Amino acid sequence: MQKKITIAIDGYSSCGKSTLAKALAKELEYIFIDSGAMYRGVTLYCLRNGLLPEGIPAVAPIEATLEHIDLDFKFNPETKQADLYLNGENVEELIRMPEVAAHVSKIAALKNVRHKLVLDQRKMGMNGGIVMDGRDIGSVVFPTAELKLFITALPEIRAQRRYKELKEKKVETSFEEVLENLRERDYLDSTRTESPLVQTPDAIVIDTSDLTPEEQLRIALNYAIEKTQNA
Ligand code: DC
Repeated sequence: MQKKITIAIDGYSSCGKSTLAKALAKELEYIFIDSGAMYRGVTLYCLRNGLLPEGIPAVAPIEATLEHIDLDFKFNPETKQADLYLNGENVEELIRMPEVAAHVSKIAALKNVRHKLVLDQRKMGMNGGIVMDGRDIGSVVFPTAELKLFITALPEIRAQRRYKELKEKKVETSFEEVLENLRERDYLDSTRTESPLVQTPDAIVIDTSDLTPEEQLRIALNYAIEKTQNA
């Protein structure tokens, strides 16, 4: 039997990481984990429980409550995707809302939030056969992953894609608002002290600006097959 490898996919917001990671996992029959969904889940919990007064994280109360935040992925047979559950409730739709997007980078910058989620993520990937996407997967969560991909695309192209998705979901927003949020998240994600978004020297860069999802998948799949054969 062929060895199941670990695939880490990192990169900026809305550059197609999750779509690529999902498609790659499906082709390889691997588990797919969207680690950003977990940070969004913690953010939703904080918003609901008054832990982000005036948009500022109440750090000590958040840290004290982390043990009460249970995050889990469950397969949804309708969408054929894994949905995020927060303390038993399916929050997959809610965590994609602009209010969560507007605050998630601040929550993702907290040391103990990251500590908890990284431990959970490592448990999920213990046996290989996993594709996980995020910001620190190749650098912190799985530094020895056999394949690391770093995905990037021009900010305007990423904002256009995200704006289209939100419009399809009938979420009230403007292109300018989406672009602004994306630039802010890029900045916060790559300049924070705790596990900032970095491109590790062993990561393969894929710029998706001019690539269709099918082209991205073909490129990533070729690398995955090569790494699996050498593993
Ligand atoms: O990939 P996404 O846009 O759903 O991620 C949501 C936020 O969580 C984003 O601001 C970056 C952060 N994040 C992170 O810090 N580390 C990860 N492994 C995944 C996401």
